[in-house]
Amino acid sequence: MARRRAKVLAALAALFAAWASGRSFAAPAPDFQEMPGPGILYEVVGEYKLPKPVVLSPHKVPRLQADLGVNVTEVGEDAYMVMPQQGSNLRPFGEVEEMYLRDLRGNTISPEKNPGIRVEPNFVSEEEETEIMDELQELAARYGYNFAADEAASSWRMTGRDEGTNSATLAPWGWGQNFSRSELPEGLLRVVAKLEASSYPLGPLRDVTVNIRSSEDYQMVPHIDPLPDGPNSFVMSLWSSAVVTFSPVASLRREVERANDDGFYAQHSYTDDDIDCLVPRRAIYQFSGNARYLWTHAVRPSLPSGDGTFERWGTWDKVLRRQKDRAAIIFAFADPLEL
Ligand SMILES: *[C@@H]1O[C@H](CO)[C@@H](O)[C@H](O)[C@H]1NC(C)=O
Ligand SMILES: *[C@@H]1O[C@H](CO)[C@@H](O)[C@H](O)[C@H]1NC(C)=O
Repeated sequence: MARRRAKVLAALAALFAAWASGRSFAAPAPDFQEMPGPGILYEVVGEYKLPKPVVLSPHKVPRLQADLGVNVTEVGEDAYMVMPQQGSNLRPFGEVEEMYLRDLRGNTISPEKNPGIRVEPNFVSEEEETEIMDELQELAARYGYNFAADEAASSWRMTGRDEGTNSATLAPWGWGQNFSRSELPEGLLRVVAKLEASSYPLGPLRDVTVNIRSSEDYQMVPHIDPLPDGPNSFVMSLWSSAVVTFSPVASLRREVERANDDGFYAQHSYTDDDIDCLVPRRAIYQFSGNARYLWTHAVRPSLPSGDGTFERWGTWDKVLRRQKDRAAIIFAFADPLEL
């Protein structure tokens, strides 16, 4: 099944390349009815495989909108570009973003330069944090799986999205159009309800993924979340604060060598255009629009020094001491589409 899907996607990618270059082609016709979902196109930047905001599909707009949770517009035969809701639908950037976002010279990020990142400090109380983590640790015994390259790092992950691992360990709440919120533990359900009652215009919830680490030696490489997760991503940070780094794909492409050199980026970050977002413990950061589709997000590897492990925030003048334990809980919502 997976191999057949890969074949179909390869055929579609060839088709798309031919279409994009205006050449005629004689590829075998793919069997569109066999296609389980939209064909995603990727850009490869060194070791990073980044989905483009363009999909290939024989299905028409309403079906694609449902598959992806976001509006699309046709840009070629069977090719569609995602059209997320306007940033102006969301609350304006304010003092909170000034407080938590920094460029690599240590400057705050003006609303004009903000690609679509918002921070909501103190989203849950200490009591709620305890309740959520107790519930998640209980569930992890059944549904979590270790995802660290190094076993000793003891990190684990829980998701309802089928990532091709053992399906018996998939979280019961599922994913995408089949997301079942009634399967969420109560603490997380309350967070979802609070997000829905907030000023963000949101469609249905499509993904909840939990990543827990228990090590200071940790990094998350620059990536773009899978397109079908949905256009509105929220990440809650529990047990410790974190610095999350956003990089424009265009700059990664331009500085590809540097962006793939971990010795270099641990110190200097991935590109000169990066934005560091300080996410306090118990806060949520939200990213959408360009920040969701045209920028990657990442956590740089830590640089241990004599008396601890530190993370740069904008500059090395502002550093955060990295704690051993952190939980990042991702909530992704569709746009509020009127279908
Ligand atoms: C979807 O995008 C198209 C093209 O930009 C636009 O005309 C249409 O109004 C949008 N639909 C929704 C539901 O936002
Ligand atoms: C949702 O569930 C239906 C029925 O089990 C299945 O056919 C479909 O592929 C699922 N869709 C997604 C997006 O997982």
